[in-house]
Amino acid sequence: MSPQLSDSQTPDAQAEIQYLRAELRKMQSLATLGELMGTATHEFNNVLMTVLNYAKLGIRNRDDATRDKALSKILQATERAAKITGTILAQARNRSESFEPTDLKSIIEDSLVLLEREMRKYRIHVETELGAEVPAAMANGNQIQRVLLNLLINARQAMSEGGTILIKLTRSADEGWVELTVRDSGSGIPKDQLPQIFDSFYTTKSGPDESGKGGTGLGLAACKEVIDSHKGRIRVESTLGRGTAFIIRLPIADQQQAAA
Ligand SMILES: Nc1ncnc2c1ncn2[C@@H]1O[C@H](COP(=O)(O)OP(=O)(O)O)[C@@H](O)[C@H]1O
Ligand SMILES: [Mg+2]
Repeated sequence: MSPQLSDSQTPDAQAEIQYLRAELRKMQSLATLGELMGTATHEFNNVLMTVLNYAKLGIRNRDDATRDKALSKILQATERAAKITGTILAQARNRSESFEPTDLKSIIEDSLVLLEREMRKYRIHVETELGAEVPAAMANGNQIQRVLLNLLINARQAMSEGGTILIKLTRSADEGWVELTVRDSGSGIPKDQLPQIFDSFYTTKSGPDESGKGGTGLGLAACKEVIDSHKGRIRVESTLGRGTAFIIRLPIADQQQAAA
């Protein structure tokens, strides 16, 4: 009946393994979603503080100049709040697994809106090099955003003294791929640990940091899962004491259409 079964696994054991794998996938996506919610709530709260403070300023100072300034700050803050809730709603609503031509540039920009203040707080300078002519990737935007947030948070956590993150988007030298690189100037990863970092539950962190992130060992495993499902690649380059780069390749969208 089941020629693929290995000798050591009974049908029951196989079903059990399959069930546990599915549970693990759920845990991975909940862990990243949890981090995203944590970040967004934090950012949202910050926007509210800005609104509150400028509203108070406007009430205290009745001159036109101050009121104009207060109102325009409130306007900016609420626009930011709308972007933040927009991202969260998109993540919560669109749980689809479908792939479509996706502009990675706007995903990068949206993710940075979310992390902007957190990065500033940890004295991390974020640079972007987003090639103007980079074609759309065949991707699930929400999933790629979660991958990106994971990589950015890991990068931030690897730079306890501050540093630089470079996000680069290019058309790959190899035909048919776009390449997304997240490079940090952090601690780097020891060579003997590199083979483990994509394993579920592998972590060198003692637990979540003060912003509630990391320490589950599920982030990179989830990233790999997502990139594999896109038939893409994710690889790491790291030098101890110098920094780490995660390089992702995703298929170009129009090529797939041409092939279809
Ligand atoms: N940018 C990075 N710099 C240094 N180490 C990293 C980086 N990204 C990941 N790592 C290492 O890989 C491990 C696994 O990462 P991850 O799966 O995201 O789990 P977690 O962040 O919960 O520890 C981390 O604990 C850390 O040791
Ligand atoms: Mg992580």
